Amino acid sequence: MQMEKLVSLCKRRGFLFQSSEIYGGLNGFWDYGPLGVELKRNIKDAWWRDMCQNHNELVQPPGAPSSYDMVGLDCTIIMHPQVWKCSGHYDLFHDFMVDCRASKKRYRFDQVRGKWVARDHQRVFVTTMAEPDHEDEELQRRALKFFNLRAKDLEKLVFDSKMMTLDKLSPEDRPFVLGPDSSELGTLTDPREFNLMFKTYVGALSGEEGAAFLRPETAQGIFVNFKNVVDSTRIRVPFGVAQVGKSFRNEITPRNFTFRSREFEQMEIEFFCHPNESAAWYQYWRNRRLQWYKDLGLAGERLRLREHDADELSHYSCGTADIEYAFPFLPEGEYGELEGIAHRGDFDLRSHSEGKLDPKTRPLQVELNEHGQPRHRGSGKDLSYRDDLSNERFIPHVIEPSAGADRATLAFLCQAYDEDEAPDEDGKLQSRVVMRLNPRIAPIKAAVLPLVKKDGMPEMATELYGSLKKKFNVFYDEKAAIGRRYRRQDEIGTPYCITIDSQSLQDRTVTIRDRDSLEQWRVKIDDCVSEIERRVT
Ligand code: GAP
Repeated sequence: MQMEKLVSLCKRRGFLFQSSEIYGGLNGFWDYGPLGVELKRNIKDAWWRDMCQNHNELVQPPGAPSSYDMVGLDCTIIMHPQVWKCSGHYDLFHDFMVDCRASKKRYRFDQVRGKWVARDHQRVFVTTMAEPDHEDEELQRRALKFFNLRAKDLEKLVFDSKMMTLDKLSPEDRPFVLGPDSSELGTLTDPREFNLMFKTYVGALSGEEGAAFLRPETAQGIFVNFKNVVDSTRIRVPFGVAQVGKSFRNEITPRNFTFRSREFEQMEIEFFCHPNESAAWYQYWRNRRLQWYKDLGLAGERLRLREHDADELSHYSCGTADIEYAFPFLPEGEYGELEGIAHRGDFDLRSHSEGKLDPKTRPLQVELNEHGQPRHRGSGKDLSYRDDLSNERFIPHVIEPSAGADRATLAFLCQAYDEDEAPDEDGKLQSRVVMRLNPRIAPIKAAVLPLVKKDGMPEMATELYGSLKKKFNVFYDEKAAIGRRYRRQDEIGTPYCITIDSQSLQDRTVTIRDRDSLEQWRVKIDDCVSEIERRVT
């Protein structure tokens, strides 16, 4: 599937728009249109229902070490600044970036890609920020220009390495790098740390006194409410706390449609368990979360679960697996992260209690400043847990399945896009674009279509539409030929089209058409709501 086709459909049919588009847009920010908002809401609702609301704490799910509780939270985006000091984000949440002295542009160090190119005795590393589909072509164009050659002279150049990112070069190679927007060598600076948190000011206080941050993850709101949740409910470890909400990261180079945005939504669970059981719970959540994506339609080779190597683990983590999807905008064979499932040990609860832990210490100890005091002071609150049956007191370990609602939405859109042929009203095969979205997440569940705009068909159709509308998002359309109306619905992923025809007027039955199999069958109009409900929930 070509990404351009999906991007164009998303704009044309109202799934996704660039934020502030009439002013030229704002890089890294996206708006969901009338269909996009329904799709994303259905994904978030499916996650909330499957993980939290419909969870039965009385039953031990298959693969789980025991039964467990689930509750939800909705925390603020701006929190006490000390939260981010103790979480490690203040000191450690950064990417490396390089600036170009010539073009004044800024790039993420690990996103600038290029190849070594030689001509006679000169060897340079030519880079580009072009999308994978065009990067080879763009590299050739830039290399020819740099060596003052014309297209027909391409064989004079030797491309003597495979494509690699700038961070793989040694510092001695940097003077030979041709920056993505520069015409001279060696214009990129050395990599520098860039904190990804957005800063803001609270109230009338200016300067550092009033400084605060927009949360870069929803997780910390759950940790700092751990005691509130335990004290205000009868919940017992093991239990999970779920939260869905906006997060903000000042990404250096947002790209690939909504994949890397500066404002996005997360769906996170912090699962608190006994340290002795944490390895088993980690396995359970990895499998459970992978299956969730499969159940909603992501499957086959495009979806995979990848265990992190030791050098990839975050500062708090003693085990992380990513659920990844082969997004079409990535180079062949590459996958992008949809969700991370991390074993965070007791890093977060202890940091918020004792003071920020030093991630380099084993066992973890509070990081101290030059005066021997905690570098970032914790709350001083006891965040341990006492099991009232065994009387044991311990600091729970945490397993964190952390998903992105926007990345999930994008993956479901990519997976759903298909082109095939379907017969029109005269039985002739016509090419069509069809979004094969799982009915549970499809923005519109059914379209109600009177075959013609007369003979009482619209009246019967509007009556049915009214009954369906009380339960789901449905669409009414009486304009244009029926084949054309079907195709308009196929293109936005509506799983069922219901047609009212002359037979309907005689026997009060209607035809239901399945988007994927194109099968059609008749049901009594009075059974239509329950038939659709059975199929879309
Ligand atoms: N609390 C752990 C945490 O935030 P993360 O891997 O940084 O972990 C979790 O983020 C998920 O949030 C990612 O797997 C991804 O789906 C989503 N996400 C992270 N950064 C994003 C961005 N810039 N744009 C869109 N989604 C993002």
